Amino acid sequence: MSSKLIFTLLVALIFLSVFTSPAFASNAETKGNPHHKKVVNVAHRGASGHAPENTIAAFDKAFQMKSDFIEIDVQMTADGKLIAIHDTTVNRTTDGTGSVSDYTLEEIQQLDAGSWFGEEFAGEQIPTFEEILDKYRGKIGILIELKSPELYPGMEQKVAEALKERNMDKPRNGKIIVQSFNHESVQLSKELLPRIPHGVLAGMSWADVTGEELEEFATYADYFNPNMNIANEDLIDRVHGKDMKMWPYTVRTQEQADRLLDLKVDGIITDFPEYVHRHPGKN
Ligand code: G3P
Ligand code: CA
Repeated sequence: MSSKLIFTLLVALIFLSVFTSPAFASNAETKGNPHHKKVVNVAHRGASGHAPENTIAAFDKAFQMKSDFIEIDVQMTADGKLIAIHDTTVNRTTDGTGSVSDYTLEEIQQLDAGSWFGEEFAGEQIPTFEEILDKYRGKIGILIELKSPELYPGMEQKVAEALKERNMDKPRNGKIIVQSFNHESVQLSKELLPRIPHGVLAGMSWADVTGEELEEFATYADYFNPNMNIANEDLIDRVHGKDMKMWPYTVRTQEQADRLLDLKVDGIITDFPEYVHRHPGKN
């Protein structure tokens, strides 16, 4: 065999081993090909299809299910403590009644926040914001929703303080994000936490959001997170055109997840993390 032929064969072998290696394939899938980019899996109120929302049980389940983020709803008690609960009353998700804002932390933590979902969760407590930060930092991303901040003056400052005390206000990996339906609150929070990415939540009434409105959001937000029913190709193109990402909410069926995956959204906020994981080629 001539030395020229041996050299050609060697070059061909090296080429084949590099470009067919799993490492190269995975890099190409996640980075080079936008059609196969990773979709961020966000467990809504924790894996709330499997465990009572906004409890440690739901957050642990999301971690076990390998979600990238937990989404939490932050509100404030009568004595100014930050806690995770979605509704502004305790009626639906605990054995108590009345407004969140009328309970002290000690009182609200005596409520059972698990039994309504299933007897096996009896005794789950409403967790504090600080407890969630301490337990999950570095393990899973935390998407912090400032819930009804208009009811809780000073809430943005308290969230910022809790993050700063823990040196969590300068995340290098973007795994702490603050968002709200109250866009003034998002703006204020961005001023207090300039290194943290922020998101604007957009309900159905934002179906016809204009280019100017998106441009304004992009001055302080990195994410435009809409109700999934207004997510379409045009909206995602326009959001990307303003250099923002889009994580629609709230997926509760496989079909809903599939539609959003086909739209190539950046992330999906879901009660069922498995619906987003089920497509290894797409996320
Ligand atoms: O993260 C988005 C989503 O949580 C907003 O809706 O009502 O579930 O807080 P909601
Ligand atoms: Ca929420």
